Amino acid sequence: MSGDDVELEARLEDRDVFEPPAEFVEQANAGDPEIYEEFEENWPECWENAADLLDWDSGYDEVLDDSNPPFYEWFTDGKLNAAYNCIDRHVEAGEKNRVAIKWEGEHGDTRTYTYQDLYREVNEFAATLRDLGVEEDDVVTLYMPMVPELPIAMLACARIGAPHSVVFAGFSADALATRMNAADSEFLVTANGYYRRGDALDHLEKTNEGLDGVDHGVEATVVVDRLGDDDFGHDLTASQHDWDELMAEHRGERVDPVSRDAEDMLFLMYTSGTTGQPKGVKHTTAGYLSWSAWTSQNVLDLKREDTYWCSADIGWITGHSYIVYGPLALGTTTVMYEGTPDFPDRDRLWEIVEKYSVDVFYTAPTAIRSFMKWGERFPNEHDLSSLRLLGTVGEPINPRAWKWYYKHIGNESTPIVDTWWQTETGGHMITTLPGVKDMKPGSAGPPLPGLDVRIVDTNGDEVEPGRAGYLTVNKPWPGMLRTLYQNDERFIDEYWAEYSDTDSDDPDDWVYFPEDGAKIDEDGYITVLGRVDDVINVSGHRLGTMEIESAIVGVEGVAEAAVVGGDHDIKGEAVYAYVITEDGYEGDEEMRQRIVDGVEDAIGPIARPEDVIFTPELPKTRSGKIMRRLLEDIANEAELGDTSTLRNPEIVEEIRQKVQR
Ligand code: WTA
Repeated sequence: MSGDDVELEARLEDRDVFEPPAEFVEQANAGDPEIYEEFEENWPECWENAADLLDWDSGYDEVLDDSNPPFYEWFTDGKLNAAYNCIDRHVEAGEKNRVAIKWEGEHGDTRTYTYQDLYREVNEFAATLRDLGVEEDDVVTLYMPMVPELPIAMLACARIGAPHSVVFAGFSADALATRMNAADSEFLVTANGYYRRGDALDHLEKTNEGLDGVDHGVEATVVVDRLGDDDFGHDLTASQHDWDELMAEHRGERVDPVSRDAEDMLFLMYTSGTTGQPKGVKHTTAGYLSWSAWTSQNVLDLKREDTYWCSADIGWITGHSYIVYGPLALGTTTVMYEGTPDFPDRDRLWEIVEKYSVDVFYTAPTAIRSFMKWGERFPNEHDLSSLRLLGTVGEPINPRAWKWYYKHIGNESTPIVDTWWQTETGGHMITTLPGVKDMKPGSAGPPLPGLDVRIVDTNGDEVEPGRAGYLTVNKPWPGMLRTLYQNDERFIDEYWAEYSDTDSDDPDDWVYFPEDGAKIDEDGYITVLGRVDDVINVSGHRLGTMEIESAIVGVEGVAEAAVVGGDHDIKGEAVYAYVITEDGYEGDEEMRQRIVDGVEDAIGPIARPEDVIFTPELPKTRSGKIMRRLLEDIANEAELGDTSTLRNPEIVEEIRQKVQR
């Protein structure tokens, strides 16, 4: 720890409440503390505030139709188009020359899109998609890195009413195939590659492998040329087209935005759950867009004049809501960066903040822990005084990292919003309104106005402040997922069955369960403790242990595997794999490598096991269930929990010795 850090700790350590600076409060979009009461009294009509941020082709009848819970409908019968709301209306309002997207490549190359530029490109790509045969309601898969063509493609899909399904570019070929199969998606947009820490990556090769695994015919693939001369030289097949060539053919074309029903699907996003099969979370046009816009305005405090930067990847929900839809709906300038925070040096992000004079910056605790480890000299080299607000998302942030962020990035003069939410919630749920509420490091804050969040025990009864329980949401909200794609039954099983009376058609009997543990304090501030299902959170990325286990069991010579999350300084959690080999196979280095490769092939490098521990047996209960909690304790080198219910207690000590070795 540096001298400066010691001083910081001494001064900030004991403080557990931080007021937002007066200067911030004065200019905040949400500044009236009454908002909490007003929304509660006026629920669900309070959410007209969100709907009013959008332009409608025709108005809605009802704010909420809750006649068939949990299949809630918001802003029923309203009609609108998401791309129109993110682009055209700003152009029509005389903002055509305002910058919509500032993009920076890893090598420092830049591209700037005004709202007019975005209008032109989105129209041309919408015309391209139509020409390729994409019709309204066809799912278009976007397997793209952080290039401007990704938001352009998303908005082009939205313009013609074709839901997109973005697959994170770091996911493997298998993951692409699984998602295209699950959505029956016949159209794909991809890129030939992208840059990571100076190297060109061959993304088209991975795409092609993925396409081999798609069970149905794929009509067309569009390939963005990101690599130019660094291209790996794959020939395009008959159904593969070069983005630039298609765009040139459609230059100057315009496509009227399709008027979509409020409840029509805007996009699908696959996320990890308890079982091996990813869940296709369905988001709608009006509910989702109004939620991402309202939270961008009131939580991120975005103004049209701002330059705003969220350092997430658009391949995750954070990038959907808070790089693309929320900020563009508000007409803000949104920054997109292709590369990693440490290339070419560890000050890259601060260089970008300074260069673009970023007003609001949103990142993840895992990144903040890396910045802390690298030291304050990197941010100190740059003028960060443009920053007005900071945000974090993805996992709990511990008070020490919070305070470091507050001091070294925010110069003790910007509020921090610690935003708890999920792919399924569409946008922020639990966080402070930065101009209204004090901040408590380590606690996300109270639920947003208009939300009914409770911490309960296994019976569904509210627990006392300070006690750990389960997070539940007791009333619907506009941004919520509507179902799991073509699987209403799993939707109910995964999110509602735990705490609802599933036979009832009274909405009061339906409770949404996000599968997180949490506790609440006397002031109603919520500290989220983490997942309570078999999902682990590696660097803010959700990974299903079952998905990883099935990848490992697919490796030749593996008989059985159990995967758990163990604590990790930077990643938050890391993947630990316990593996039993088949007779005749050795748990050696070669086997370990094949297991790591198997996981990377099935999911991607983010799921790579931190450690593979070979063991003759796994700790099991008498009924044959693997005791994961013990395996977690072993990974964390923690005190072991109760082993008395095990069928094979002796194995625990044996495994532990291997790990400590
Ligand atoms: C976790 C990311 C604590 C949580 C937007 C949730 C958080 C899961 C926070 C969703 C936070 C997200 N504090 N935990 N501020 N934000 N989480 O779907 O466990 O990728 O259920 O959405 O991340 O992850 P997802």
